[in-house]
Amino acid sequence: MADATVYAPSSAFAERAHVRGMEGYRELYRRAAEKPEEFWGQLAETELAWFQKWSHVFEWQPPFAKWFVGGKINASYNCLDRHLATPRKNKIAILWEGEPGEKRRITYEDLHRLVCRFANVLKDRGLKTGDRAIVYMGMVPELPIALLACARLGVIHSVVFGGFSAEALKTRIQDLEAQAVITADGAWRRGKEVRLKDAVDEALAECPSVHDVIVLRRTGETVTMQSGRDHWWHELEAGVSDECPAEPLDSEQPLYVLYTSGTTGKPKGIVHTTGGYLLQAQMTMKWVFDLREEDVYWCAADIGWVTGHSYIVYGPLAAGATTVIYEGAPDFPQPDRWWRLIAENRVNILYTSPTAIRAFIRQGDQWPNAHDLSSLRLLGSVGEPINPAAWEWYYKTIGKERCPIVDTWWQTETGSIMIAPMPGAVPLKPGSGTLPLPGVVADIVDLDGKPVGNNREGFLILRRPWPSMARTLWRDPDRYRQQYWERVPGVYMTGDAARRDDDGYYWILGRVDDVMNVSGHRLSTMELESALVRHPAVAEAAVVGKPHEITGQAVACFVTLKKGEWNHNDLAEDLRKWVAKEIGSFAKPEQIRFTDALPKTRSGKIMRRLLREIVTSNAVTGDVTTLEDLSVVTRLASQHDEE
Ligand code: WTA
Repeated sequence: MADATVYAPSSAFAERAHVRGMEGYRELYRRAAEKPEEFWGQLAETELAWFQKWSHVFEWQPPFAKWFVGGKINASYNCLDRHLATPRKNKIAILWEGEPGEKRRITYEDLHRLVCRFANVLKDRGLKTGDRAIVYMGMVPELPIALLACARLGVIHSVVFGGFSAEALKTRIQDLEAQAVITADGAWRRGKEVRLKDAVDEALAECPSVHDVIVLRRTGETVTMQSGRDHWWHELEAGVSDECPAEPLDSEQPLYVLYTSGTTGKPKGIVHTTGGYLLQAQMTMKWVFDLREEDVYWCAADIGWVTGHSYIVYGPLAAGATTVIYEGAPDFPQPDRWWRLIAENRVNILYTSPTAIRAFIRQGDQWPNAHDLSSLRLLGSVGEPINPAAWEWYYKTIGKERCPIVDTWWQTETGSIMIAPMPGAVPLKPGSGTLPLPGVVADIVDLDGKPVGNNREGFLILRRPWPSMARTLWRDPDRYRQQYWERVPGVYMTGDAARRDDDGYYWILGRVDDVMNVSGHRLSTMELESALVRHPAVAEAAVVGKPHEITGQAVACFVTLKKGEWNHNDLAEDLRKWVAKEIGSFAKPEQIRFTDALPKTRSGKIMRRLLREIVTSNAVTGDVTTLEDLSVVTRLASQHDEE
């Protein structure tokens, strides 16, 4: 892999970049490695606005970190107020397009006013520092407005992706014991309404902690409003003031909790705090996206995932960027929606996922080719390893061989990008995230924590704490320690397998645990299995990821049934719907196979490795001596799909 094609930065790009040439990168990296506290301390001082300076940069009681201890800061202030005394005051902060075609251009000054007003609404509802608000909305400007209003008061927000079902929403509200839910009547997706408020109503039947629901009118369709509990956003906002000072909050005040799939059935509430998170989100905008004042920047993720938190809302707004938000589906009304949007708004930076790129490849080059994409100067990728074919297409068809591609490796837990090229400095190799960013000390180790050296596969770890790291799991510090810090004591275990080549470039190979990556979304096999066994017909279920041309992985299920007469075709369809109801339609299984028994070890653990081989190749190789009943495997391998 070390001799993959290398794309050095063009001199035109490098000349104008924030960080130039490998010397530029190495110098930053060295300073951060040698004196991390001085490095981050200086940046925090020059790049962020503080109400009160910290007493020390860093406190480390493994595995619990604190950054900028004693400092007082506010994320909303840093994303808004401080820009108002600069020429950014009248710059467009949010450039929004609704799926039906409406456009909104919101300047920093406007955004500040809208956020203050909504913060006053939250205050009127009695919300205060440390309370929790669930945000369950589509991609409308009011979503970042809600987040920044929460941040202004120190209300901890937790965005639940609008594609999650009422059931998934309920478990998150319950875990967080949220006091309020901020939602909308619905959202537009591919011309249809996603009924958000209905899902909230269903979820709230079992969520006694929630006393207020604030509903944005987006689609205008009919919804039921429960008197006393539910209020329209516009009605609450009608009488409030435009002024709402940002609270000086502790640097370690939790900013948000974001749930992500782990290896068990229960999602993990990743906790991010304020000062350190904001600093690294903002710095990576400069280092990785090489953001310039005049850029129109578009991260096409959903704010329901961490990518949207760090790279649609907090990173870009803290950096004073113009951030594009598009509400709907990429192929609505036609597969050229994105390319039209880029041409019309002269977008300079596009950040998306390999799964989206592969879907575009399938639709054909005529769609991007019909539009002027010459405004683009940088492309980004996130969510999974980008396969060389997708990389080449992105580079040629979208970037016209002019735009570097930054392949960014990071996780919900890391808060910001960890491994990625600085585009004016680091030569690219398609498929590699290249080199760790300043302050990121990565390595690849074996099960005993010993470095495996170059060109060997192993576990990707991070050796040193960094400012935007997760602080803990919501009300579950033990699980935090266990999951990330115990396998190899004192170092952060990412859960990814990787290899490093002789140039020090990192190549991510995928997850090592029972977590799948479907369309760049993390899904836990356990979460899916628990959902399936809740179905009355299912006795046991095993779920594995199956390689998939577009989504990277697809969900494949092996199911044993309770006694009874079942029509497999009807049942397979029923189970698919069931999973959509329990988790969300993006988690729908692609394949369901019915079987008499599942292959297990003598200790009763399902041998997922074998099942993975079956769905991948319909054959079984390797060690099967620990199998309880080998005949199960042979039968499964020879059986055809039930589809
Ligand atoms: C995978 C998304 C290869 C990886 C920001 C990681 C990647 C998980 C890349 C985190 C990349 C993300 N190359 N793999 N550039 N980016 N991953 O928490 O397995 O939704 O552990 O955060 O996605 O997913 P999460």
